[in-house]
Amino acid sequence: MRGRIAGVTSPAGLDLPEGVEPTPLALLLLGRGDPDLRTERGVECPGDLPAASDPDLVERARAAKDRLGDQVFVLGHHYQRDEVIAFADVTGDSFKLAQQAAARPESPYVVFCGVHFMAESADILTADHQQVVLPDLAAGCSMADMAALSQVEDCWDVLVDAGVADSVVPVSYMNSSADIKAFTGRHGGTICTSSNAKASLEWAFGKGEKVLFLPDQHLGRNTAVLQLGMDLDDCVLWDPHKPGGGLTEQQLRDARMILWRGHCSVHGRFSLDSVTDVRERIPGVNVLVHPECKHEVVRAADHVGSTEVIIQTLEAAPAGSSWAVGTELNLVKRLAAAHPDKKVLFLDRTVCFCSTMNRIDLPHLVWSLESLVEGRVVNRIEVDPETARWARVALDQMLALPSAKATKD
Ligand code: 13P
Ligand code: SF4
Repeated sequence: MRGRIAGVTSPAGLDLPEGVEPTPLALLLLGRGDPDLRTERGVECPGDLPAASDPDLVERARAAKDRLGDQVFVLGHHYQRDEVIAFADVTGDSFKLAQQAAARPESPYVVFCGVHFMAESADILTADHQQVVLPDLAAGCSMADMAALSQVEDCWDVLVDAGVADSVVPVSYMNSSADIKAFTGRHGGTICTSSNAKASLEWAFGKGEKVLFLPDQHLGRNTAVLQLGMDLDDCVLWDPHKPGGGLTEQQLRDARMILWRGHCSVHGRFSLDSVTDVRERIPGVNVLVHPECKHEVVRAADHVGSTEVIIQTLEAAPAGSSWAVGTELNLVKRLAAAHPDKKVLFLDRTVCFCSTMNRIDLPHLVWSLESLVEGRVVNRIEVDPETARWARVALDQMLALPSAKATKD
């Protein structure tokens, strides 16, 4: 007998023994399930998607973009595929793209080649007459999915009961859904990205005694310990799947950083072994990693930085130097091609694309651009006005941070 419970799909073709129920899946399988545009969950792409084998895809994308001219502004995150980046008007990390989203009010359509939370932020930061399109709605982010609003509200209730909520400032990573950003705005906090996490935490600790850091435990811990000089003991881990986060009231009272138990499924794969291994294989290699990596990996690395910092570091590196880079593979491959005078390799031996970033491919881009040419806006990402209002408060707080001003072009 195949086990089934309401609302839960048993993995296809898997026969479970009598009486054994399947484990509920934490995430919807990409491209399946009920559409729910308020979450990071994947839904099917409607309409006629060009075949990936269509030899005219590049020409079709170019023709559609030319027809649209200034009507469309295409943003591309650094982790996107080469074939997609080729059509981006601007490339950047999530911070730069958040700034750029608001920089072209004359374009009524913004096509966001990135993931769902980035397109939501673009919708919040752009003018009312602009519409934001995500070429594939299945391009979500597993990290953003790890913090749901109801879970975060439950956490806040526990902080209130423990008598600490008044001294807690929420700091939420850009990689979170719009309703988590709105929660952050309502509770006097800020958004941060990997480019400005230090400045965000300094701002927050100028305002309160504790920070609730959502949803990436690693960025929170790495920034607090390695950049603000805290002890690991100053940090506690809130597990949303355990009553009271798995923490005692005393632990909450003693902590300075309350870290949400979330992580990036790509950067979380780099291990201390991968650092040791590459150092053995390539004497003198420089290890450069993103702060979403685990604490022990960041500690063992020579350099740590956001996507933009990784790019700048390699640009400034001397010819002949060797670099093992711990971030998404599309970017590392592009960096290796851009710097043939340096040895640039991927930190891990196994392939490590971000599968959801990779959902945006040329067929989806062509489909969304050609639909716009025909006057149809497909896959529009629209945040409801109340959520957008509060999320904007938290995003504006981030854009007002001193380091954020310094990195503006
Ligand atoms: P940045 O673009 O802020 O470096 O973040 C990396 C990332 O994982 C984006 O999804
Ligand atoms: Fe999310 Fe990690 Fe992919 Fe970025 S790289 S979109 S954080 S899963």
